[in-house]
Amino acid sequence: MMRGPLLLLLSGCVEPTVLTESEYRLLDELRWREPSPDVPPAVQEGNEVWNVPEAAELGRRLYFDRGLSSDGTLSCATCHDVATSGADPRGEPTSRGVDGAPSPRNAPTVFNAALRGQYSWLAGEPSLWVQSGRPLLGFHGMTTETVATHVCDAQDAGYAEVFGDCEGTPPAEVFANVTKAMAAYLQTLESRDSAFDRFMGQDRGSLDPSCLGEEATRGARLFVGVASCNECHNGSTLSDGRSYSIGAGLNGPPSAPDGGLQRFQTPTLRHISETAPYMHDGSLPGLWDVLVYYRDGGAAGSGRAPEIQPLRLDDADLLDLQAFLESLRGAPLPYCWVNDDAYCCTDAGVPRNPTPFGCSERLARPLPDCGGEP
Ligand code: HEC
Ligand code: HEC
Repeated sequence: MMRGPLLLLLSGCVEPTVLTESEYRLLDELRWREPSPDVPPAVQEGNEVWNVPEAAELGRRLYFDRGLSSDGTLSCATCHDVATSGADPRGEPTSRGVDGAPSPRNAPTVFNAALRGQYSWLAGEPSLWVQSGRPLLGFHGMTTETVATHVCDAQDAGYAEVFGDCEGTPPAEVFANVTKAMAAYLQTLESRDSAFDRFMGQDRGSLDPSCLGEEATRGARLFVGVASCNECHNGSTLSDGRSYSIGAGLNGPPSAPDGGLQRFQTPTLRHISETAPYMHDGSLPGLWDVLVYYRDGGAAGSGRAPEIQPLRLDDADLLDLQAFLESLRGAPLPYCWVNDDAYCCTDAGVPRNPTPFGCSERLARPLPDCGGEP
């Protein structure tokens, strides 16, 4: 593989990275773009509270509420830990619901959920708030009635503030309102301002690689170059929202009955370094395994996406790609907004009671300093 300008290698990281016009254009398509705060995204259609802060705050509390599961053990955050990756922190290949009930699927991150076009690995649900209700009836073992009863008892004040009186409202309507409030919360969970976004936020032609690191910069070029990952992983979320069969689950013991040649929606790659294990069935334990899988052309078998072909990449190239994928980790969200910490209660994300431990400090990770607005 060509390694970019020799000068760059010899002089450390001070020389500007010169991307070709086409590399710049392709990488620019991947950077974070601010969605309009006024125009409801299509996935929020029918959700009249999608952008109401009080609804998002109610949604936040409901999101962490274990009382919304039949045995009191599970909340949305159990499988989508928004303080870390938005995915299941338990690290098992596939998620388990109440009473350990297995599911054939790995929990995807909920970060940037509002930017997706449709939901689930099979891309079967176009509405974010409808999608938010499904786990309540499935994984959580609830019914519309038990959800309504719990919410009217426990969340009355917050609920009433947004939707009016709970008592006397038909359970199905309370249930729908609960899912709309959750979707309003999910709307706020953006994975953005990653090292990659900050790198791309600089002036074209004087890109400072210290922002991204040389490995990740080379990886970014490979991603849109010989590896052509951006054929499917493109746009702000690094997903085209289309579905392909890339054969994951055919190698090794398939943990999903339909793992074979089924088509799955291209997942987002934002925050990807923290959402292991990978693929719809969690069959690949680490990013390195995913990259080796792609280099080898995916699992054997007919019916695979023709885009998945063996790649001429050496181990150093894969490490560069891995460094690029790691650079897609967004900036941390405010501590209180993504934790259910009684000690650090919030009003719409503002710490009410800042402490030496710092409500907003605890998750802080330094952002690379490389100028340029993210
Ligand atoms: C037991 C683990 C578990 C719990 C609890 C859970 N989820 Fe999920 N979630 C999953 C899995 C697994 C998927 C993928 C399902 C599929 O593709 O069939 C998923 C998918 C999603 C998606 C779609 C993501 C995408 O990009 O396709 C959203 C949004 C979501 N969950 C929100 C929620 C909300 C809101 C709650 C709480 C009401 C919740 N989840 C509770 C495991 C869980
Ligand atoms: C033909 C479209 C396509 C191309 C090209 C492609 N991917 Fe994927 N990618 C997918 C699909 C679809 C999945 C989910 C497959 C599954 O779960 O069975 C996926 C899954 C992944 C995952 C796991 C995500 C997760 O949340 O589990 C990573 C990481 C990934 N791809 C990185 C890459 C890289 C790096 C490249 C280039 C070497 C690449 N992809 C090329 C479509 C593609």
